[in-house]
Amino acid sequence: QKGGYDSFMAKEIHEQATAVADTLRGRIDSGALHLDEMSIDESVLRSIDKIIVVACGTAANAGNVAKYAIEHWCRIPTEVELAHEFRYRDPIVTEKTLVVAISQSGETMDTLMAMRHAQEQGAKVVAICNTYGSTIPREADAALYLHVGPEIAVASTKAYLGQITACYLLGLYLAQVRGNLFPDEIAALMEDLEQLPAHVQTVLDGAGAVEELARSMKDTTSVLFLGRHVGYPTALEGALKLKEIAYIHAEGFAAGELKHGPIALVDEGQPVFVIVPSPRGRDSLHSKVVSNIQEVRARGARTLVIAEEGDEDVLPYSDVVLRVPATRTLFAPLLTVIPLQIFSCALAAAKGLDVDQPRNLAKSVTVE
Ligand code: M6R
Repeated sequence: QKGGYDSFMAKEIHEQATAVADTLRGRIDSGALHLDEMSIDESVLRSIDKIIVVACGTAANAGNVAKYAIEHWCRIPTEVELAHEFRYRDPIVTEKTLVVAISQSGETMDTLMAMRHAQEQGAKVVAICNTYGSTIPREADAALYLHVGPEIAVASTKAYLGQITACYLLGLYLAQVRGNLFPDEIAALMEDLEQLPAHVQTVLDGAGAVEELARSMKDTTSVLFLGRHVGYPTALEGALKLKEIAYIHAEGFAAGELKHGPIALVDEGQPVFVIVPSPRGRDSLHSKVVSNIQEVRARGARTLVIAEEGDEDVLPYSDVVLRVPATRTLFAPLLTVIPLQIFSCALAAAKGLDVDQPRNLAKSVTVE
């Protein structure tokens, strides 16, 4: 059942190249996107003036990646809200709001209640789900399924990559319908997206080095994660994984926030993962993150750096460098999170913990 792996989590991590391919399959034809399941009228999609993503946990981190992509491609203001916070703050939702409810299980009560609340105000809801026939996609106005297969481990991994991929598809579909991008721009983006399963596999092939690192750190009591732009939700996801299965204090920060407080946590030997954006990406983003690595290292941090192949700027300030293949900045979250998933899984296993059934957690949270 575990396909030769020690845990379902390890198996599901290693299924992620297939997962991304499965989410893309059948949805791209001749460089254009075909989302037959988008049963919301195109005229409604053209009238949207705001998107609100509602989700919890890992699904919310996928939503945080989606925000960067959707705003960039579609120029629609996009908010991401933890579903359990959404309802209770009297959110501004109108008929021109598109709510995107992301849920692997499709049964998370907080997300379901947030989505119902939005529908009562006249908003249309697109569900991004993995579980066929579950409540959230059934009640939504349209449902995009991940098609990544059942996820058994409590810690979400392959569904996370599927959710991000589905969000890219939704963003590009909206850009296509609304005319925000030219057809050749969409075709070029889709072509790059289709390279991602192979890149995911390349990262997975390097799992051994990450596992060794994790085993060497099994007595660690605190780990920090830093990222900027789409690296920020990746930092949050890396920290969440480590908390939930290895029971280690872990925090993810926006790297720019360091000097506003968190840098006080850094002292001699503190492990800090840093997710570095592509050096070919948005101008100053890369150099800003390299400066952040320098800042924490100058205060004694042990820097564990996730950087693109060939990025030599990070070398002088890194204790460990984990490489990912080059891709567009917006697509990097599909790659940079993988070493963090492998790290948590291997570290929890090295501590002798039940990787698939972490204490106090359930796979699907069906109570508010
Ligand atoms: O089924 P859902 O995607 O709605 O679940 C949301 C969260 O409960 C879930 O992602 C949780 O954070 C996972 N245990 C994370 O690994």
